[in-house]
Amino acid sequence: MLTDEKQPVLRIRNLNIWYDDKQLLRDLSFEVQQKQVTAFIGPANSGKSTLVRCINRLNDFTPNFRSTGEILFKGIHLHEATDPTSLRKQIGMVFRKPTLFRCSIYENVAYGARISGVNQSEHLDTIVETNLQKTGLWAEVENILEETPEQLATGQQQRLCIARALAVEPEVLIFDEPCGELDPIETVKIETLVRDLAGDYTLIFATNKRRQAARVSDVAGFLYSGELVEFGATERLFTNPQDDRTEQYVTGRLG
Ligand SMILES: Nc1ncnc2c1ncn2[C@@H]1O[C@H](COP(=O)(O)OP(=O)(O)OP(=O)(O)O)[C@@H](O)[C@H]1O
Ligand SMILES: [Mg+2]
Repeated sequence: MLTDEKQPVLRIRNLNIWYDDKQLLRDLSFEVQQKQVTAFIGPANSGKSTLVRCINRLNDFTPNFRSTGEILFKGIHLHEATDPTSLRKQIGMVFRKPTLFRCSIYENVAYGARISGVNQSEHLDTIVETNLQKTGLWAEVENILEETPEQLATGQQQRLCIARALAVEPEVLIFDEPCGELDPIETVKIETLVRDLAGDYTLIFATNKRRQAARVSDVAGFLYSGELVEFGATERLFTNPQDDRTEQYVTGRLG
């Protein structure tokens, strides 16, 4: 699908989220531009996951959640754009813990394409290989495609989750703390992959590792107690923060 170069992929306006009486997000407004990595940083419980889950409509059916404000996806209100299942083909999500299906490595990647109506085996083979190649996993799994992913290392499982998310050709891919369970070697692989994917996809990346956000993102937002304290070009936010709290956070004196 074509996107107007000038129109942001996502435009969030005055977003407030409550759980019962507790306010989790406070009047957030920002834009996400296409083919950039937009990171959200902040201490534990600052609202990063709550925010990215809203963009994937994962909070919609959580009892006691209430929201006001708007999330526009390519100019259309997220709730009017499409139903949650179709939306998640366009806006994919990768979580902290790899969440794979209990089927073969091949089927994990082929699944999304299959339910979208692709059933020709050669076409599915191509989709599986292409997306495993994109995540650097093909050479590691090409001889065990029919086996289940349980035997893979956690980092490989995470890259398989990314391959599965890419296989349905999303426009936006959200990562919520994707390296939280990974060793440093696998963490570097995911960070490198995120940078590579930014040429083709719009990426949103939530992390409580500030240096990681500095490495992977073009634009960053600092969340603190549900407030978007500062949002702007990553380099500027880290080198010349405008708010004292951002300065304290990026220099490691806060959170
Ligand atoms: N389903 C829920 N029910 C009740 N409170 C919730 C729920 N999800 C999140 N919260 C609360 O919302 C606040 C923000 O949590 P959130 O998980 O978004 O923070 P985070 O920045 O992602 O933290 P972390 O760095 O630990 O991942 C916290 O106070 C948390 O307890
Ligand atoms: Mg979180």
